[in-house]
Amino acid sequence: MDHLKTENQYCAQNYKPLPVVLTRGEGVWLWDDKGNKYLDMMSAYSAVSHGHSNPKLVEVLTRQASRLAITSRAFHNDQLGRFLEKLCKVSGFDKALPMNTGAEAVETAIKAARRWGYRVKGIPAGQAEIIVADQNFHGRTTTIISFSSEADYKADFGPLTRGFTTVPFGDSDALEAAITPHTCAVLMEPIQGEAGIRVPPQGWLRRVRDICDRHNVLLILDEIQSGLGRTGRMFAFQHEAIKPDAITLGKALGGGLLPVSAFLARNEVMDVFNAGSHGSTFGGNPLAAAVAHESLWLLEEGRLPERSAELGAYLMDGLKEIGRDIFTDVRGRGLWVGVDLDPKFMSASALCHALMHLGILTKETHDRTIRFAPPLIIRQEEIDWALEKISSVLASVREVHSGTAAPTSPELELA
Ligand SMILES: Cc1ncc(COP(=O)(O)O)c(C=O)c1O
Repeated sequence: MDHLKTENQYCAQNYKPLPVVLTRGEGVWLWDDKGNKYLDMMSAYSAVSHGHSNPKLVEVLTRQASRLAITSRAFHNDQLGRFLEKLCKVSGFDKALPMNTGAEAVETAIKAARRWGYRVKGIPAGQAEIIVADQNFHGRTTTIISFSSEADYKADFGPLTRGFTTVPFGDSDALEAAITPHTCAVLMEPIQGEAGIRVPPQGWLRRVRDICDRHNVLLILDEIQSGLGRTGRMFAFQHEAIKPDAITLGKALGGGLLPVSAFLARNEVMDVFNAGSHGSTFGGNPLAAAVAHESLWLLEEGRLPERSAELGAYLMDGLKEIGRDIFTDVRGRGLWVGVDLDPKFMSASALCHALMHLGILTKETHDRTIRFAPPLIIRQEEIDWALEKISSVLASVREVHSGTAAPTSPELELA
């Protein structure tokens, strides 16, 4: 079967994948239908921090699947309490509301913030405002895209949801100026992932915490991509030693096996939900709870946040070294590195294609930026292997650019 052709014929064209058909994964490696092996430098947008088919997670998944998988929350189950207790202890929040995808957790955060605004802060009915950042990415529901700054995310999907004010990311003065008596929350990523791993200025998050405190506004951080070790700490907010009022988590929470997300908050915020006010058929199911519990346990036991800090610094130094002339910026935190290419050499998409031919899978975000975000279990030898491959692609790019060699692949011709 021609998988690529069949998928293209029957699947909506809402993504533009690289032309590779993956059939198997193990740890940091992936294989395609022709038996070619690739290093995963993308981790399914940071969902596969524990590596593909992590044996301990697969064991928990299969054991729980054969025992009890889905109950709905019409009843209690013996996995949910145990999972959420662990999640609250790891994160320092009082309570969690389990959902499935990241976007659902963000929707939960928006509902909580608005209800808190009306019922606790006393904002007049229907007037609550939430402040968000320019170039944010929080998911794809109609409400969430309503406050995206990407025109294509929202073109002809209106009418859009009102009640959001956008300020530049990393600018605390603009944020304070945007606060009104109707502001219930600030909702932001501590580091913007899909925008290209944009790291805000040092001290920004502390200032935001202080501003929110002074104006009685909730600080809600979307840690769906930055959380659970990706940035070198369990949570990105820990880099500035602050505590938000609430966070959203997803992606790696499901151990690379299932969609599991959660909204976490202190009691005053979470208590705005009453029975019937919010829910999800699959949210909090015992299968997801068992896997997510194990996923948290493995993050701690394997010291994955610490590994991410050490190996991320190593990867970033290596990328800076090999791409000095071609990369205009290399930035990030932990094993979450964004690289901007000088467009005179080639587009980010062309470089991703060229890397694929050498056995490295990653994807561009916007025209000029490539992300390198391998599973957090990656070893230094594997990073060295990747740096060597990336370096050899860059050497070809240089030769083609300076006219000393003809392009060896159609991708390099695009340069
Ligand atoms: C920060 C952030 N929030 C929310 C989401 C949406 O998550 P999902 O695709 O699981 O709905 C993403 C996905 O990339 C994300 O990076």
